[in-house]
Amino acid sequence: MIKEKFDLKNKVAIITGASKGIGKAMARGLAEFGATVIVSSRKQEAVDQVAQEFKKLGFSADSIQCHVAKKDDRIKLVEKVIDKHGKIDILINNAGTNPYFGPISKMPENLYQKTMDININSAIELSNLVYPYMKNQGGGSIIHISSIEGLHPSPFMAAYNISKTALIMAGKNQSIEWGKYNIRVNSICPGYVKTKLSAALLENETSKKGFLKNVSLGRESTPDEMAGLAVFLASDASSYMTGTSIVNDGGLMNAPLIPMQ
Ligand SMILES: NC(=O)c1ccc[n+]([C@@H]2O[C@H](COP(=O)([O-])OP(=O)(O)OC[C@H]3O[C@@H](n4cnc5c(N)ncnc54)[C@H](OP(=O)(O)O)[C@@H]3O)[C@@H](O)[C@H]2O)c1
Repeated sequence: MIKEKFDLKNKVAIITGASKGIGKAMARGLAEFGATVIVSSRKQEAVDQVAQEFKKLGFSADSIQCHVAKKDDRIKLVEKVIDKHGKIDILINNAGTNPYFGPISKMPENLYQKTMDININSAIELSNLVYPYMKNQGGGSIIHISSIEGLHPSPFMAAYNISKTALIMAGKNQSIEWGKYNIRVNSICPGYVKTKLSAALLENETSKKGFLKNVSLGRESTPDEMAGLAVFLASDASSYMTGTSIVNDGGLMNAPLIPMQ
C-alpha cells in the first residue's frame, strides 16, 4: 500500500528550531504521522511547552534544548536522543537566522559569521553527528530547510542568501557520499512564510504588498503549508529521492522577467 509509506510509526525525528514557526509545524506534521518528535531550540522552557502541547494531543514527543551553533549542545542533543530513544531516523536542520539587512560591502564580519555558524555550519556538524547512527541502523532521512533565497539573490541579505545556497550544496554532497548507506538528504526551499523571522519583511503592509506581488498565489504561506513536504521527505514515500531541493513558494520563483500588465 502506498499510503503506508507515509507512516512514521517507530521513527525518531530531531527537529531543530522547533519551538515555533516552520519547525514547530513540521514537528507536528511528523508527529501526526506517528513519529516520536524531539522538539529542540535554544530555550528549554519553550520546547517543553511544545512537547507538552503535542503530548496532550496524543502524539509522542520529547524536548531537548540545543543552540545549534554550540558544539557541546549539539553533542548533548544527539547523545540524549540515543540514550533515551535508541536511534535517530530523521534529522530536520531547520534553525535559521538573518541578523543583517544591508549591502554586502558593509556586512559586519561578526554577523556574517553568526549567519554561517547557525544556518550552515551547524547543519553540517549535526548531520555528521547523526550519520554514524543512521549508517549503522540501515538508513535515515536528513532534511535541510534552505530557502528560495538560496536560489536567487536579494539586494540586502547576502549572508543569508550565501548560507542557504551552501546548505543546498551541503545536502547534495552528503547525498552522494551517504546514498550507499540509504541515508537520503534533501532540502526544502520555502518562499514567504508567515513567522517571526519573516516579520521584518511582511509586517509593513506597503512593503508586504511589494513582496507578494510576484507570488502567483498572491499571499504568503502559513507554516503548516510547509509540513506536508517535510512528512513526505522524512518518510518512505520519498524513498528514491535524494540530493534534491524542492521549492514551496506559491509560484514566486516563476516571477515574470517582464512585469505583468
Ligand atoms: N519564514 C520564512 O519566510 C522562511 C522562508 C524561507 C526559509 N525559512 C527558513 O525556515 C527556518 C525556520 O524559520 P522560521 O521562519 O520558522 O523562523 P522563526 O519563526 O523565527 O523560528 C525560528 C526557530 O528557530 C529557533 N532558533 C533560533 N535560533 C536558534 C539557534 N541558534 N539554535 C536553535 N534554535 C534556534 C527559535 O527558537 P528559540 O528562540 O526558542 O531558540 C525558533 O524555534 C529557517 O531556517 C529559515 O531560514 C523561513
